[in-house]
Amino acid sequence: MSLEIVILAAGQGTRMRSAVPKVLHPVAGRAMLGHVIDRARELSPLAIHVVIGHGGEAVRQKLAADDLNFIVQEEQLGTGHAVAQALPYLSADRVLILYGDVPLIETATLQRLLEQVNNDQLALLTVELADPTGYGRILRDERGEVYAIVEHKDATDVQRAICEGNTGILAVPGVRLGDWLSRLSNSNAQGEYYLTDVIAMAVGDGLRVATAQPEDAMEVQGANDRKQLADLERHYQWRAAQRLMTQGVTLMDPARFDVRGQVHAGRDVTIDVNVILSGTVVIEDNVEIGPNCVIHNSTLKRGAIIKANSHLNGAIVGEGADVGPFARLRPGSVLEANVHVGNFVELKNAHLNEGSKAGHLSYLGDAVLGRNCNVGAGTITCNYDGANKHRTTIGDDVFIGSNSALVAPVSLGDGVTTAAGSTITEDVPAHALALGRARQVMKNDWERPSKKK
Ligand code: UD1
Ligand code: CA
Repeated sequence: MSLEIVILAAGQGTRMRSAVPKVLHPVAGRAMLGHVIDRARELSPLAIHVVIGHGGEAVRQKLAADDLNFIVQEEQLGTGHAVAQALPYLSADRVLILYGDVPLIETATLQRLLEQVNNDQLALLTVELADPTGYGRILRDERGEVYAIVEHKDATDVQRAICEGNTGILAVPGVRLGDWLSRLSNSNAQGEYYLTDVIAMAVGDGLRVATAQPEDAMEVQGANDRKQLADLERHYQWRAAQRLMTQGVTLMDPARFDVRGQVHAGRDVTIDVNVILSGTVVIEDNVEIGPNCVIHNSTLKRGAIIKANSHLNGAIVGEGADVGPFARLRPGSVLEANVHVGNFVELKNAHLNEGSKAGHLSYLGDAVLGRNCNVGAGTITCNYDGANKHRTTIGDDVFIGSNSALVAPVSLGDGVTTAAGSTITEDVPAHALALGRARQVMKNDWERPSKKK
């Protein structure tokens, strides 16, 4: 049976107290609505319709993609009215309704729900709640069959004592939806067109209402304010940490670890406290990451060691290489096997071949270094002339004396040595020593100026 998905995302989110539309507030670095869209995509529907309203233009701009159909709900007249806006676009056998502010829903839960919907049956995701205040309550008859949902504000005291709440997520047979939505009325406590009234209509038409529950109640938790947003964030991070530990990663403290993207980790990886991984990060077996590292879109190969307080963005760290503490690898940094990059070294678009070392206080930009080079402390590539970037090319077994300035474009052949303090402006042939500094001058018995007593 074919499937289409409607995501409701038109609400204002007043309690966020924000100029940013509620569904754009991030969990784990991605807009809440983005997470819901990701889950929707995993179900391979014919189409995904997103109903937007408050801040709709910002939502569309942020998340626009070819496979999304944004539909504007001009006035927020209720969840039923919101789904009705999508009706002209719907043609599938099954329609799944999701909420843009419920980001932790799991694909497996939605799949279990979808297995139960067909032309004779509607499927409703419900949840047992310790405190169901505010939620729609699930009404079941003496046989335990669902026959209606009553909203909290419309419920009697007896109905309010029911702890089975409506998550809002449901799947309905597409052919029936138009008829049901056209029959909704807004004569209720909130003066809204309630999507939940569809349940009683379905039962009246002879359909059955099947129910499913999430594995974990946080899956169906929405975020109405920043405190709930923080709860979702912590829960997301807890889940991400559990997953990595299950795969063989040691987290020194799972409560002080944050993932904002995708992490692919091997076995016997150790991650110390306060590490943030974002974008796509690949961590091979036996990698160690020290405390307070921020790593974005990078690959750490087998046995690499990233020491405390290092910042990596768009870097590839080779097998057995070590980086930091306090290193900064910017986009295009490629370290081959057993490279050593030490403290206060910044790399940008720099390729260091096997066994090369830059131990202290250097900037290497737009550069390629051969194997087994040694870059002395304080070395910089002068790669920028104020308008253009220029390359520095260094062969194998090159020894760069401390505090050398390599003025690009420049190239140094294999086995070159540069003297400490040199400014290298011309290419150096293989195996030469290049000195580019003033000769030391001595004035013997020099009288230093002294202050009058
Ligand atoms: C809804 C359900 C309630 C359920 C609860 C779970 C109805 C009538 N009630 O109540 O049974 O327990 O969710 O959280 O459906 N939205 C629109 N357009 C609108 C109105 C809402 O897009 O005109 C969107 C909101 O942005 C939100 C979602 O629909 O993402 C739910 O709306 P909300 O007002 O929070 O519904 P509740 O009153 O909480
Ligand atoms: Ca709500």
